[in-house]
Amino acid sequence: REHLPLQGKRVLITAGPTHEPIDPVRYIANRSSGKQGFAIAAAAAELGAEVHLIAGPVQLPTPTGVHRHNVETAREMAAAVDAALPADVAILVAAVADWRTADSAQQKIKKTGGVLPALRLTENPDILAGLATDARRPELLIGFAAETENVIAHAQAKLARKGCDWIVANDVSGPNGQSVMGGSDNAVHIVTRDGVESWDSLPKDQVARKLMEKIADAVR
Ligand code: C5P
Repeated sequence: REHLPLQGKRVLITAGPTHEPIDPVRYIANRSSGKQGFAIAAAAAELGAEVHLIAGPVQLPTPTGVHRHNVETAREMAAAVDAALPADVAILVAAVADWRTADSAQQKIKKTGGVLPALRLTENPDILAGLATDARRPELLIGFAAETENVIAHAQAKLARKGCDWIVANDVSGPNGQSVMGGSDNAVHIVTRDGVESWDSLPKDQVARKLMEKIADAVR
């Protein structure tokens, strides 16, 4: 039986969007499909890792051999990540909502003749930055970045600001980039403190496979 390179490693992955409730029937969301994160979870399991996938609300099948934990909100995602620690590697792919409503309504908000409801927002916890300073910080901590300009410079700044080891950056500007969120292909740059590796556009499952092979090399 072939030796799998991630045998014995625990890998934690977040994927998908989060939904932040406004009232019982409405929420704030974003266009993340979860495809890239789920593909990374599948690739990690194929390479032998014990994979914990913290999934926001998406209708995707659970990859074979992956432990899936479903969440809705950013705060639920943060709690599920905390509960899944320790991990050797964490890859935070989720498009976490930056804001939630400061006080979501217990009942459906009604239309009141011309008076518009005001949404007060408050900031969500930054799961990636939190993991970077946690006593249980994974040996290899990886974030994602969706940028529309100066992709590499912004990714380098994000690497420093978040305190992670790698940023996987993709360009989501313009008609081509908009198809990244929800689409099936992805062109990424792997930004580390040692430099930048840029990959041509590939199907998301191939990006996932290549990324997990690079990760396996790094934690071997
Ligand atoms: O700051 P920005 O949202 O661009 O950072 C993106 C990276 O940070 C992604 O890896 C994302 O999963 C992570 N993130 C997080 N918690 C947040 C916001 C972003 O883990 N509240």
